[in-house]
Amino acid sequence: MKKFSWMLLLLIFVITLVGCNADADDGNKTVGLAMPTKSSERWVKDGENMKKEFEALGYSVDMQYAEDVVENQVSQIENMITKGVDILVIASIDGEALSEVLGKAQKQEIPVIAYDRLIMNSDHVSYYATFDNFEVGVLQAKYIEEKLSLETEEGPFNIELFAGSPDDNNAYFFWDGAMSILQPYIDEGKLIVKSDQTDFKQGATLRWDGSVAQGRMDNLLSAHYSSEDIDVILSPFDGISRGVISSLKAVGYGSASKPMPLVTGQDAELASVKSIVAGEQTQTIFKDTRELAKKAVDMADSVLKGEEPEVNDKETYDNGKGIVPSYLLAPVSVDSTNYKEVLVDSEYFTEEELK
Ligand code: GAL
Repeated sequence: MKKFSWMLLLLIFVITLVGCNADADDGNKTVGLAMPTKSSERWVKDGENMKKEFEALGYSVDMQYAEDVVENQVSQIENMITKGVDILVIASIDGEALSEVLGKAQKQEIPVIAYDRLIMNSDHVSYYATFDNFEVGVLQAKYIEEKLSLETEEGPFNIELFAGSPDDNNAYFFWDGAMSILQPYIDEGKLIVKSDQTDFKQGATLRWDGSVAQGRMDNLLSAHYSSEDIDVILSPFDGISRGVISSLKAVGYGSASKPMPLVTGQDAELASVKSIVAGEQTQTIFKDTRELAKKAVDMADSVLKGEEPEVNDKETYDNGKGIVPSYLLAPVSVDSTNYKEVLVDSEYFTEEELK
């Protein structure tokens, strides 16, 4: 009798094991999706799009947002590892803060894909899906160059420069791309930075926070623009642009006698596209989050199937431990002249939403 119950137990154990395996073979694997914050609309869309695409392929998704608190993101990833997710797709908050937790993923052989932001100082980042980040900065600066006819006009024009978060590798690419176009005009004196704040560090905006940018703009305006107007603001992100615009409006910009300066942006967030339509923000960069989500999902799917994902760049993104093979999508510049064609025709937004 005793022997019989032992055999029964063993049988149940074997059946359970086989059952689990069958599950995995059915493609019912779990993806851990670590996202930075819901406070910016783009990341909400990114998350929704990826979840939808993964689920359409039969994966389960464990998606967590960390509200821009680095420790939260680390513990969310730790939990995913403990639960035994099959792959991690991470849009980091602080690209430098994940080396340790990714060490744990490595021990459990859970592959990692960096989403939009490169994860630094870890040799356990398999692939990177993003946009051509240098090109984003180039497009913002070329827009300024073209709108002010910098090649032919004497100027000078007053400009102030904003950069993104110093813990986000992308911020340096946006800045370098923009400065590759703007620096010669600054050197020549056609563009004048009255604050003299021309270093990345001086323009940086921790966590891309619009209210931090608003505070900096308030200070710049009161210290340097009481007798002269400002003509241009280089902003790398719509949230920063909106902070800057609030500050400008507070001192009377946006009227016939004191027109709004040219303000760039990035992400084509709804509030900023509306602001462009209303004639406040001037430009943004559209990065189709539907396409990025598809790319990241394709990459993860290939990795999980033991196949090589498609990449188109094997030299640009060094995370300090080596080059991370990447797929770069193309950003598009948007302003009041082409927003309908780019954003409405592609069904990113409806006409209704933009009203
Ligand atoms: C960057 C991203 C930008 C923008 C910014 C702030 O990493 O590439 O598109 O979203 O973060 O969220």
